[in-house]
Amino acid sequence: MSSDAPYRAATPRSYLMCPPEYFEVSYAINPWMRPDSPVDADLAMRQWSALRATHESLGHTVATIKPVPGLPDMVFAANGATVVDGIVLGVRFRYPERAAEAAAYLSWFRSHGYPAVHEARHVNEGEGDILVAGDTLLAGYGFRSDVEAADELAEAFGRRVISLRLADPRFYHLDTALCVLDATTAMYYPPAFDDAGRAALASVFDELIEAKDEDAEVLGLNAVSDGRHVVLARQATGLARALAGRGFEPVPVDMSELLKAGGGAKCCTLELREKTTP
Ligand code: ARG
Repeated sequence: MSSDAPYRAATPRSYLMCPPEYFEVSYAINPWMRPDSPVDADLAMRQWSALRATHESLGHTVATIKPVPGLPDMVFAANGATVVDGIVLGVRFRYPERAAEAAAYLSWFRSHGYPAVHEARHVNEGEGDILVAGDTLLAGYGFRSDVEAADELAEAFGRRVISLRLADPRFYHLDTALCVLDATTAMYYPPAFDDAGRAALASVFDELIEAKDEDAEVLGLNAVSDGRHVVLARQATGLARALAGRGFEPVPVDMSELLKAGGGAKCCTLELREKTTP
């Protein structure tokens, strides 16, 4: 870390994860998925367990949801909901292959004492496309979520929503192209956005780290930050260096099997944001 990098403080988080018990790549709904190439299910489970252990070792709480047979992508819990101030907005998937996950996640929230659980009217794939930066919500659209979901977000959470059009099909969810590190800092892949999106990001964040092609292409931006530790693909060495240089602590994990479905560390992690007392 360079001596002029600011001190970055971690805050404890609560996450929801889903073990990849039924994980496989049996259909293709994003350019990463190749149904004809084999997936090592045991290795996927070991990588997922290591990710969970990593979150816990950083002091975070991890709850789990029971996986459902026939829903191989359910491991990507980030797509299960958006939770802000203890309020839950459910999801509605673009493709029928994942549609049944929406109800499974809703019923988890309903049975875990969340008082406000809203069903989605428009297509929105949860935290895959919806990120929180301080008081602002960032809503990606173009490949998966509908732009109209932004109004629903503003209604459910009472916060400002900035819509960002995604421009590169490889980065089909916002969380593959942008990672919020803290309220004023993010890392992102500029070519995944249009001019308006890049300008919006520059207005929201004081500090933006730009990912190079080689780091974006291993889904290095699909990372989980607690304000200090940034859990990211171990292959994303350039981003790890950039983070360390700015006072963050990169925590590398290997998600190679889950990457075959187009997912990384963040996709497997849904943040449960409770109401914070001001
Ligand atoms: N195969 C899954 C899909 O295409 C991957 C989801 C990745 N999740 C994410 N939050 N980016 O829907």
